[in-house]
Amino acid sequence: MNVSRRKLMAVTAGTVVAAAGVAGCTGGGTGGGGGPVKTYKNADFYGADGKLKEDFAKQAYFDMLQRFNSPVYEKIRKEMWVADFAVGKFTEVGMGGIFWINDKEGKYLGHEIYLLPGQMIPEHWHVKLDDCAPKAEAWQLRYGAVTLFGEGDPSPEWDKVVPASEKECTTVKHAMVLALGDVAPLNRVEARHFMVAGPQGCIVTEYASYHEGKALRFTNPKIKL
Ligand SMILES: [Fe+2]
Repeated sequence: MNVSRRKLMAVTAGTVVAAAGVAGCTGGGTGGGGGPVKTYKNADFYGADGKLKEDFAKQAYFDMLQRFNSPVYEKIRKEMWVADFAVGKFTEVGMGGIFWINDKEGKYLGHEIYLLPGQMIPEHWHVKLDDCAPKAEAWQLRYGAVTLFGEGDPSPEWDKVVPASEKECTTVKHAMVLALGDVAPLNRVEARHFMVAGPQGCIVTEYASYHEGKALRFTNPKIKL
């Protein structure tokens, strides 16, 4: 679905509201029927050593799932992974996830993506390797709100939902706002893409072909995973 200016502006406004709440403890309105949206300072996620406090980050996602009334399975508590991509701005750039399955022989992958309000998975793409086809992906919005970015004509106000720290490290400017339940595929394998959560955060289910981390490339050269 191509995004209209009006729709993207609505998402933008929500993101700004979420960002404005970052300085407080809680705020930003309700987020899915399970209570108010929790907001955080970026420093909340980092220890004195500057490293991401992974347990704190996971708890933030568990709290979001509970707000969405989405079950926090024991498997999720045990196997969720979190990353700030070495950017050091987890409230802006980061994610949580769980690989339900990544089957090399069957060549399929099931993955859940968790994003806090306004949080971005930075721009990346997946290359072809000798032993791994380029990753095909599709995303289904299950809770909250998300804007997908990919190849195509630049969308009006596209930059309003992209965290300032990553604007110079994005090249694709075509935005798609998913409605709950909508599924959108990557337009072509090896195309660059990223996504940004709306003001409630989001849970996005990813359907994809088998993937290996060594096939992942990021536009921002400072990023590590
Ligand atoms: Fe991807």
